[in-house]
Amino acid sequence: MFRAELDELEARYADRLRIVHVRSRDPRHPAHLRGHVDREKLDRWLGSDLPVGTVDAWFLCGPVEMATDLRDLLLDRGAEPDLVHVELFHGYRQPAVSDDSMSAEVSVQLRGRRHEVSLRAGDTVLDAALKAGLDAPYACLGGACGTCTATVRTGSVQMEQNFALSSADVEAGHVLTCQSRPTTPSVAVDYDA
Ligand code: FES
Repeated sequence: MFRAELDELEARYADRLRIVHVRSRDPRHPAHLRGHVDREKLDRWLGSDLPVGTVDAWFLCGPVEMATDLRDLLLDRGAEPDLVHVELFHGYRQPAVSDDSMSAEVSVQLRGRRHEVSLRAGDTVLDAALKAGLDAPYACLGGACGTCTATVRTGSVQMEQNFALSSADVEAGHVLTCQSRPTTPSVAVDYDA
C-alpha cells in the first residue's frame, strides 16, 4: 500500500528521508527485516542507525501490544515521554483494577451542564459517565487518542496509562477519563474546559 508514493518521496528527499520496509509475509525479504516491527528490531536500530538522542519525535502506530511495547523500550532507552506519540489502530488494554480502587461521587461538567454521577469501585470516570447515560466523548479507550480528556476541578484521580497527554497537560490537571479512577471520595471533572 502506498509503495509508489513512498518510493517517490524517498527519491525526492534522498538526502533526508530513508524508509525501511519490514515485511511479515514475504519469504524473500531480507531475514533481519522480516516479521513485525518488534522490540528486538527497534533495539537493534537504536544501537546502530537510530540513537535515541538524535530523534526529534517518535510516531508509533499499530496494535496496542506492539505500540506499547515499543514505547516502553524507547522510554527505557531514555526517550522523552512527550516526544513519543502513539496511535492504536485496534485493540486496547482495559485498565487494570487495583485492590484499592474506590467508589466515588463524580460531578461531571459536559456541554454546559453539570451532572452528579455515582461511580462504582473499579470503574473509570468515563465508565461512570457512560453508565449514567451521559454522552461523554471517547474513541480508542486505550489512553492514546485524547478524545476523552477532561480537567479535574476537585479531588484527584489516578491514570492507568497515558500516551496522549504531555506532562504539561497533566500538570495543568488534564486527565484521560477512560484511564482515570478516583483516589478521593468525590471528584469533579470538566469536559468543557
Ligand atoms: S478514549 Fe482515547 S484516550 Fe481515552
